[in-house]
Amino acid sequence: MLAKTPPMGWNSWNTFAQKVNEEIVLGAVDALVEKGYKDAGYEYIVIDDCWSLKNRDKDGKLVPDPEKFPRGIKYVADYVHSKGLKFGIYSCAGVRTCAGYPGSYGHEYTDAKTFAEWGVDFLKYDFCYFPASGDNKNAYLTMSMALKASGREILFSACNWGTDEPWKWMRSVGVHMYRSTGDIYDNYKSFTDIIQSQEDKFCMSAPGCFNDPDMLIVGMHGIGHVGEGCGYEGCTDTEYESHFVRWCLCSAPLMIGGDIRNMSPFCEKLMQNKNLIAINQDEEARPPYRIDATSFQWSPKEVFIKHLSNNRFAIAFFNHADKETECQIFFQEAGIPYYSGVTFDITDALTDEHIGVIDQDYFKANVPSHGCRIFTAEFATR
Ligand code: GLA
Repeated sequence: MLAKTPPMGWNSWNTFAQKVNEEIVLGAVDALVEKGYKDAGYEYIVIDDCWSLKNRDKDGKLVPDPEKFPRGIKYVADYVHSKGLKFGIYSCAGVRTCAGYPGSYGHEYTDAKTFAEWGVDFLKYDFCYFPASGDNKNAYLTMSMALKASGREILFSACNWGTDEPWKWMRSVGVHMYRSTGDIYDNYKSFTDIIQSQEDKFCMSAPGCFNDPDMLIVGMHGIGHVGEGCGYEGCTDTEYESHFVRWCLCSAPLMIGGDIRNMSPFCEKLMQNKNLIAINQDEEARPPYRIDATSFQWSPKEVFIKHLSNNRFAIAFFNHADKETECQIFFQEAGIPYYSGVTFDITDALTDEHIGVIDQDYFKANVPSHGCRIFTAEFATR
């Protein structure tokens, strides 16, 4: 089964966009292995848009740009496989990709076969230049079928930015993850708006097909395409922590968009945090349950509990205010009234510090501005 848990990997777009080339991709492969990401669970290396020539060859096949990929795409895929990783590429359901390269509309079966021959394990499939006469759902179904008929097992990562409520049909057309929003930018408001827009949709995310609120911006610090390239200055480390924790809490795919060859130690450690990745990869993939009755629009605090497998839980506090604040969870609101005699034994998931068995009927913690705290909890008796 593909995408049994949320897919994890690296994608070239957020930082490199049209500058992607063989040297960058092979460098990312080496960094994934040598800097610990592979051991932490990251698996896919994905080349996004801008890898091909602007025209197909005389047989109608896509042609890798020989300046960017002088040894072709198969060479890159082989290199990725030689490191025990999986390889992904990008195309588009429309007649052109978003950056103007040939799209797969009307060429789905040829392109799927080409990808299979090259050793592709993952296809991101975008939605630009889609003909007005085209059928959105049928286009994704057609490529899904083409991939399945290609003879190779290829994870299908759809990217139609939420058009036609993809959470209602992407699973049934065989997709393994689907972008549900417009593009993320290296900015606090961008990622909080994105994740909040999907809060009531994560109930449709489950093993085999996950809602994808877009690639990570962790550690970009304004460098790259979706940062300074689009007029954004980047986030603070505290904000990146909130972003990564929120993606983990929502069982979102973890596709790193930063330059992993040169990541800051803080962000490298964050994206390899074993407790957070275990929460993200929990096999039950349950959506978080909101405890605070208020919505973000009129409360700067958000409090969630997420059920994990084996009677374990994650408790998360987020603070959108511009100063530190105290967040709390009353256990009664989490289904544990005081008279039950049951309480939680709590560990800080970010620091791994064991906090212990909580005697009161609530648990509280200080949360920095734009920051978060996340804990794992197990049952205990008072
Ligand atoms: C769209 C997608 C992005 C990226 C670019 C490439 O904007 O949403 O994630 O793939 O296209 O051009």
